[in-house]
Amino acid sequence: MLDSQNSDRIEMCNILKALFIILGIALLYNSQQNSKSSPAIVVRVNDPKFTVLGPYNTTEYEVDDLNDQLIDLKNFTFKVNPQPCQGYDAGLLLVVIISSNPNNCEKRSVIRKTWGRPTDTTKVVFLLGDPENITISKRIDNESTTHGDIVQGNFKDAYRNMTYKHVMGLKWVAHHCPMAKYVLKTDDDVVVNSHALRQFLARELSPWGASSLITCQVLQNAKVQRSRSKWIVSKNEYAGGFYPTYCAGWAVLYSQDVIPRLLTVAQNIPYFWIDDVHVTGVIAEMIGVTRTPLSSLILSSKRMNLLTSLGPEYAGQFLFGPPDLTVDKVSQIWKAIPE
Ligand SMILES: *[C@@H]1O[C@H](CO)[C@@H](O)[C@H](O)[C@H]1NC(C)=O
Ligand SMILES: *[C@@H]1O[C@H](CO)[C@@H](O)[C@H](O)[C@H]1NC(C)=O
Ligand SMILES: *[C@@H]1O[C@H](CO)[C@@H](O)[C@H](O)[C@H]1NC(C)=O
Ligand SMILES: *[C@@H]1O[C@H](CO)[C@@H](O)[C@H](O)[C@H]1NC(C)=O
Ligand SMILES: *[C@@H]1O[C@H](CO)[C@@H](O)[C@H](O)[C@H]1NC(C)=O
Repeated sequence: MLDSQNSDRIEMCNILKALFIILGIALLYNSQQNSKSSPAIVVRVNDPKFTVLGPYNTTEYEVDDLNDQLIDLKNFTFKVNPQPCQGYDAGLLLVVIISSNPNNCEKRSVIRKTWGRPTDTTKVVFLLGDPENITISKRIDNESTTHGDIVQGNFKDAYRNMTYKHVMGLKWVAHHCPMAKYVLKTDDDVVVNSHALRQFLARELSPWGASSLITCQVLQNAKVQRSRSKWIVSKNEYAGGFYPTYCAGWAVLYSQDVIPRLLTVAQNIPYFWIDDVHVTGVIAEMIGVTRTPLSSLILSSKRMNLLTSLGPEYAGQFLFGPPDLTVDKVSQIWKAIPE
């Protein structure tokens, strides 16, 4: 009698816990849906039942995409196409796609040794174009054979081709890693706090599977640069005076379901070379997905300095480090992060 009452009570507790989580998720969705003016916030729940090993929802999303098309390139192929996600039929927590310059061999090497070590829940690949230089190409082939983590497209690797690279990443994920629940797009000069990120994704961020999620450092009312800038853009390239709300491209977290939706639109609208504006601004707006700010979960330079000089307790919780880091800084920050 007592026993059954107790177990009833425990069951009741679990039901209440579940209700709280559902409420949290509902709030997140609602705020995402109604947030034309005020941006959504990330609602965090914490349930020890969920671990980084799942359970995952492994429903795969339909992809409507031509293999040999990459935006306006009609003869696209993957020069190198590794399959690190194959065999994970029960799902993966995260796949990280890292835009990288073919010359940045050292940066890739440091990432492999620090935050980007592949695990049973996370896979990491680097996105490269064609360096169109036989010496560098050979080096890449070697690196790719050794590590199996280079995704290379047959377009020229160039600064103004970075949107090809980002969209190639979406294409690769949609076709070759659709079992990953979340997708992080980042650059090769960033630190990702991968321990904290896995806990955050598995336990806190709608553990039963967030959808329609794009979260990042959100940039608003950015003015189109018409002169004296690395980001100079002509009226032909972009007619408006301001960009839509978009994500800083060095760390963008997507839920898997938005990948095929972004890809379909990207394949069918004109090319624009600033990839974060194009993918997370223009296209995200077209598919109606809000960009949710990660706010304090992004490490500022100031907090990075506190982390490396005084220790992690002075930096607070974070998921991504600041961009434009040297390889030494990446190692230094990684060493300062607790397991
Ligand atoms: C899994 O995801 C699919 C597609 O979004 C959804 O329809 C389904 O309800 C989800 N299942 C669970 C158990 O969350
Ligand atoms: C497309 O690529 C293939 C193989 O690289 C090549 O043989 C063919 O000529 C290319 N076609 C066009 C239209 O560029
Ligand atoms: C190819 O790259 C190597 C190594 O960076 C460089 O020394 C060489 O000049 C490059 N060749 C051409 C044709 O650009
Ligand atoms: C590949 O690179 C490794 C490490 O730099 C080197 O030891 C090896 O000889 C290279 N192999 C080829 C085939 O170039
Ligand atoms: C981008 O890649 C395409 C396809 O390889 C190439 O034709 C074009 O010249 C490249 N753009 C730049 C700015 O190098």
